[in-house]
Amino acid sequence: MKLVSSVDLDAELDRARVEIEQTLDRLLPIPQDGEARLHEAMRYATLDGGKRLRPFMVLASAELFSISRSSALRVAAAVECIHCYSLVHDDLPAMDDDKLRRGRPTVHVAFDDATAILVGDGLLPLAFEILTDAETHADPKVRLELIKRLAAASGAHGMVAGQMMDMVAERGEFGIGAITRLQRLKTGELFAFACEAGAVMAKADSASHHALHAYAHDLGLAFQIADDLLDVEGRDEEVGKALRKDAEAGKATFVSILGVERARSQASLLADQAIRHLEMFDERADILRKTARFVVERRK
Ligand code: IPE
Ligand code: IPE
Ligand code: MG
Ligand code: MG
Ligand code: MG
Repeated sequence: MKLVSSVDLDAELDRARVEIEQTLDRLLPIPQDGEARLHEAMRYATLDGGKRLRPFMVLASAELFSISRSSALRVAAAVECIHCYSLVHDDLPAMDDDKLRRGRPTVHVAFDDATAILVGDGLLPLAFEILTDAETHADPKVRLELIKRLAAASGAHGMVAGQMMDMVAERGEFGIGAITRLQRLKTGELFAFACEAGAVMAKADSASHHALHAYAHDLGLAFQIADDLLDVEGRDEEVGKALRKDAEAGKATFVSILGVERARSQASLLADQAIRHLEMFDERADILRKTARFVVERRK
């Protein structure tokens, strides 16, 4: 699918990264007192790194409904806090035991295991605290809806359930159906929260919600196939995290089941399908359209 929009995605991503960085910097605790080490580690885990895809999706969906940038940035920061906490715990020795993340030593390597656990414990409630504030949205009902949705997306029927299934996948017994469910939970739910956030903030109609949910569903799967492909064929210095881990762990992934070529074409088909779900939106959705292609073509 060819896109002829004038949107410069790289410029939009750069602008968003700067704003997200500034917002997180303001919201994260300033190192002080006996807890300074925890606060330093929370900042280390969150600032100055990552593609910022989930917060970018919040901003892009908010733009569809002309939501103020300052509100959208707070919701974006909340999602990124959850994502960063999940990465810190995912990298721990008890989980993936990784030493490199975003091109730097992982939190438990730079600090220690206990601090890394506490960083996650601190980032998780911080996300919800950000959403409770009236600066996030004037209507308390909307704030509550955001909190409810983010809790569902990240909790025991969402991301955390996906992480549990991911551990089981190391036994290699999963087929394509189970892998699809695993990935929908592990990464798709947070993507869906991010993509629908604008509709929630705008109290939009159910057609908008459905369209954005369907977009996020296909995009989340395409994103995960791209992650699995990068694990097989990515360049270490570009990706900034340890690669060739899935095969080493004997993990069932889209790539182990479909093979590289079919996985790549499946990711591309999913991106096209994601774009088609946006038909009801005007050119303000061009950023989301271009993001779909970016997600499957990315090299990190
Ligand atoms: C990595 O997510 C973890 C997965 C869910 C596969 P990203 O690839 O979005 O990581 P960052 O935020 O850019 O570091
Ligand atoms: C991590 O998945 C997903 C979450 C933290 C929710 P992976 O283990 O595949 O991510 P990477 O490859 O370490 O980034
Ligand atoms: Mg993992
Ligand atoms: Mg991992
Ligand atoms: Mg991975």
